[in-house]
Amino acid sequence: MSDILKIEGGHPLNGTVTISGAKNATVALIPAAILALKGEINIFNVPDIDDVESLTALLNYMNVKTESDEGGHIRIDVSGMNYMDLDHPAATKLRASYYFMGALLGKYKKVRMKMPGGCYLGPRPIDLHLKGFEALGASVDFSGGWYNITAEKLIGSKIYLDVASVGATINIILAAVYAEGKTTIENAAKEPEIVDVANFLNKMGAKIRGAGTNVITVEGVDELVGTSHEIIPDRIEAGTYIIIAAAAAEKMTIENIIPQHLEAMLSKLVEMGVKMDVGIDYVTVEGMQPMQAVDIQTLSYPGFATDLQQPLTTLLTQAFGSSTVKETIYTERFKHCTELMRMGANVQLSYAMASITGPTPLYGTDVVATDLRCGASLVIAGLIASGVTAIHDVYHIDRGYDSLDEKLTRLGATIWREKEETSH
Ligand code: EPU
Repeated sequence: MSDILKIEGGHPLNGTVTISGAKNATVALIPAAILALKGEINIFNVPDIDDVESLTALLNYMNVKTESDEGGHIRIDVSGMNYMDLDHPAATKLRASYYFMGALLGKYKKVRMKMPGGCYLGPRPIDLHLKGFEALGASVDFSGGWYNITAEKLIGSKIYLDVASVGATINIILAAVYAEGKTTIENAAKEPEIVDVANFLNKMGAKIRGAGTNVITVEGVDELVGTSHEIIPDRIEAGTYIIIAAAAAEKMTIENIIPQHLEAMLSKLVEMGVKMDVGIDYVTVEGMQPMQAVDIQTLSYPGFATDLQQPLTTLLTQAFGSSTVKETIYTERFKHCTELMRMGANVQLSYAMASITGPTPLYGTDVVATDLRCGASLVIAGLIASGVTAIHDVYHIDRGYDSLDEKLTRLGATIWREKEETSH
């Protein structure tokens, strides 16, 4: 049974928050580590989130030894690794378990696993991942809830992605590092997490060029070995706290960030009138000021991140005028709006779009974190609402935000957890 997160709103925040390593890089780096044939892998700045626990459980299931310490350092030893079909509950807990498809296919030329899990944001197909594996010479079969992917050998190929998918780009890279010859991915996604994964693999001995642009090449190699790597800061966690600061802080600094990764969002906040000082690796926000409505449209990087659309919606409920939020990545990613409406938000929903008219006071009530970033949007709402907000299904938030309660408590929030009462 998941905890309930309770927040008593209306306590202005102050101080500094340090951002953790990027979830969406970490969840690819951990599966990528199994591609090493020898040597130890040391990953630093690993966030303390449940997704990491699930992926570590999958490594251990394949007899890969892991050791973690408090400071976000994981040591991975693949020397005793055995191939296993991924018939493990952890594989269905998160979406990123699909990175084991590319990594196991690359290393063992076979993989058998169930459908990956993760947040429901409307349909989330993986057809492009599979087409990529097929282009490299693998055969893919889906039956009885299992993906069976096998190849006699993988041969480099040219792959055009119909949609610039983060997951497909990374998965094809993982499968291609041991392929014979050169793989070219056209219309590749350009997210910073992809660059981080490519840097990690290159340190292990891979030959990946062009990560961060829309054409990536992978020259196959014979052996990858252990390395050390520090994960980039989480731009979505950073963006979430910047929005929290604009909504609920007198003065707050968000540190250990790469502001260039947040340019689209920072521009929108400037347009709203949020007062910010953007430094080399920090942003200081003077929040709780009058703000203007803006229109946003989610796009793949460097456009406005879909993962920040949900947290920003809460801020838009406090802006003067009518804002529109258009989703081009996940047309159904609007469950948070229904929850925000329970708290007093004025939101009109139409296909792939929300119109928010503000400012409206928000009132604490019972709401449900239907997915990770919906959870973040409700936490922000709880911080500014009058009374107590009770967020149910908080496990979604724990999948992706490192020490959320502790970080917010240190900033001056009143936040606590209670056990969900069982109904009879
Ligand atoms: N798509 C396809 N076919 C595919 C793959 C994707 O049509 O085979 C479509 C999707 O339906 C979507 C678009 O392509 O419309 C982009 O999806 P993408 O593959 O880029 O998303 P993802 O890799 O499944 C990652 C993040 C998400 C984030 C999206 C978009 C991870 C583990 N997840 O998902 O993060 O929203 O990119 O930036 O990296 C989150 O952190 O809360 C989260 C959901």
